[in-house]
Amino acid sequence: MNWVFEMIRFGRSGVDPGHGVPAAKDDLTPLLQEMTGCDAIVMGTPVYWYQVSAQFKMLVDRLYSFMGFGVDPETGAPVYRTAFPKGKNFVLLISRGDPEPPPVLPQLYDHLNEWLNLIPMTLGAGRFELIHQYGADINRKAAEKDVALLERARIAGERLA
Ligand SMILES: Cc1cc2nc3c(=O)[nH]c(=O)nc-3n(C[C@H](O)[C@H](O)[C@H](O)COP(=O)(O)O)c2cc1C
Repeated sequence: MNWVFEMIRFGRSGVDPGHGVPAAKDDLTPLLQEMTGCDAIVMGTPVYWYQVSAQFKMLVDRLYSFMGFGVDPETGAPVYRTAFPKGKNFVLLISRGDPEPPPVLPQLYDHLNEWLNLIPMTLGAGRFELIHQYGADINRKAAEKDVALLERARIAGERLA
């Protein structure tokens, strides 16, 4: 399947928070709508320069249209709310070249690892599983040889049902 991406526009015509309806109309719009109706969600991205890929970030940016702000009734503190249908099981696959622990600049992964938790929160996910492929180097077939990783993915897949 070919997807054509356009640069997102911020503001009312682009990423409009809190309405539960993707505001921008482009090839991602039907995908976002489809996601609201599916039984479970699996997303994946390579790590590029200690971040998710630009394409993946663009998809996450568009999830902002499901977000709104509320108030915690107990503490009165402002909290995120999501208009995305809650409780879908969600698997997030992260592939990176570095082994664990990373040989250089390990602190740069701290922000990434924390930030990734925003995605299940934004989706109001039910069961959430984060699967990391470490040490992929630049070999696209590395995952096929990683027996433990494949077993984890298989179990995660079973739990999606
Ligand atoms: C532009 C670029 C930046 C990358 N940056 C990182 C990085 O910061 N950390 C890391 O572990 N791997 C990094 N990698 C390796 C990829 O994460 C690894 O190859 C990936 O798991 C497979 O991605 P691919 O589908 O693009 O081959 C980078 C690869 C590219 C092409």
